[in-house]
Amino acid sequence: MSINQSQTSDAEGEVLDSARLRALIENFSVHDKDTLRYRHEIYQEMRESCPVAHSKRHGGYYALSRYRDIYDAAHKPDEFSSFPVTIPPFGNPTPMIPLEAGPPMHRKYRTLVGGQFSPNSVEATESRMREMVRDILDDLEGREAADLAKEVAVALPLRAILELYLGVPRKDWDRLKDEFLRMLQPDPDATDEENQEAAMEAGLNCTMYFAEMLDNLRTNGYGTDLISHLAQAELDGQRLTDDEILGFCLVLVPAGFDTTASLMSRLLLMFTEQPEVRDQLEQVIDDPDALDLAVEELVRFIPPLPGIARNVTQPCSFAGTDLKVGDRLLLLWPSANRDPEEFPQPDELVLDRQPNRHLGFGSGIHRCLGSHLARLEIKLLLQEFLRRVPRYKVAPGQEAQWHTGNTWGVKKLPVVFEDWSTSAAARSGG
Ligand code: HEM
Repeated sequence: MSINQSQTSDAEGEVLDSARLRALIENFSVHDKDTLRYRHEIYQEMRESCPVAHSKRHGGYYALSRYRDIYDAAHKPDEFSSFPVTIPPFGNPTPMIPLEAGPPMHRKYRTLVGGQFSPNSVEATESRMREMVRDILDDLEGREAADLAKEVAVALPLRAILELYLGVPRKDWDRLKDEFLRMLQPDPDATDEENQEAAMEAGLNCTMYFAEMLDNLRTNGYGTDLISHLAQAELDGQRLTDDEILGFCLVLVPAGFDTTASLMSRLLLMFTEQPEVRDQLEQVIDDPDALDLAVEELVRFIPPLPGIARNVTQPCSFAGTDLKVGDRLLLLWPSANRDPEEFPQPDELVLDRQPNRHLGFGSGIHRCLGSHLARLEIKLLLQEFLRRVPRYKVAPGQEAQWHTGNTWGVKKLPVVFEDWSTSAAARSGG
């Protein structure tokens, strides 16, 4: 079961000469529109010719593109630290937790929240999560047009993390979403300094929001939410500091929604650009094992995080390159996921791919905490959406708009639907 495609490289059909490719690599930046546009050509060239490529952007750093090197770097948290975890950095003075924490504290932090995101705990949310998906689709039912990025892809994971986990009241969802997007998706046309200033301001607003929430919980009584849990938790016999609790919040919200939203928005765009992807997914939604494999392959094929940074803490030689303290590395998960040394037919979406040791959720101590949650959200969306929503196309005269930044996805997907009576659910009488 495979779909042959070089995937939505917007550059499809264009041939890049080697000078242009070199220039793209030297200017590689996850915030750059050309990097996004030519990503697959760039990754291939990097993997083949310069696996530890140097980009001169954002003060200069190295980009790792081969599966094996990325895997190895992710498994050396002492030599390659995670603070700061983006290039350029957000500028936060203390690490975001657990993402930017290192050993030995990192493991203690993970233990504090591991239970909430374990397979069993996530499974327990399934019926509530399915209701959420249904609610979101109820709002679309019968309409001629919608923005599927905003109304579906962002709406579901945002609601899952804010409502199910953090207990944030509905009235504040949009405000928090906008602030976090300011942090994560900087303006590609602004300077690093301007973007850093905007990210710091947005981060501060979010921190203040959660600090107020924490105060309220302390005053009015704790609930069953994760913030209440963190406020009462102890590490080595000590309560967490406010900085630590807020550091968790600053990671959980964006990690919890923007990643999954970016993957979902790209998937929903694929359904219009490559209807055969939808055809094949429709075949597996009622087969739990086949659906699990398909979800895994989607995370390999359209991973939403273009790269995560590491910082060299001791002089070393890595993959043939001498590195000094303070050098920065960007681990390009999507390139690892297309490495032919690891994956046969890497540019094909093979829904029943096995084995599938993709790095879409990272690897090593920082491997995604929310992977089970993300899988469940994607699975339920596929089941409910593919049954209920008819085929659609991008609205005439409009276009899908991608965003660059710390995630890559589609921020606007204006579509018009075919007749709702043609959906699978309508055809089968419900
Ligand atoms: C398709 C969706 C998702 C993808 C592709 C994804 C991907 C990743 C990746 C690649 C990392 C590794 C970062 C590193 O090595 O520095 C990571 C870490 C993390 N993810 Fe996810 N993620 C997704 C959804 C989620 C969700 C729903 C949550 C919910 C809370 C979440 C929470 C986290 C956290 C807290 C970390 C940091 C873990 C640590 O440092 O120990 N992610 N994710």
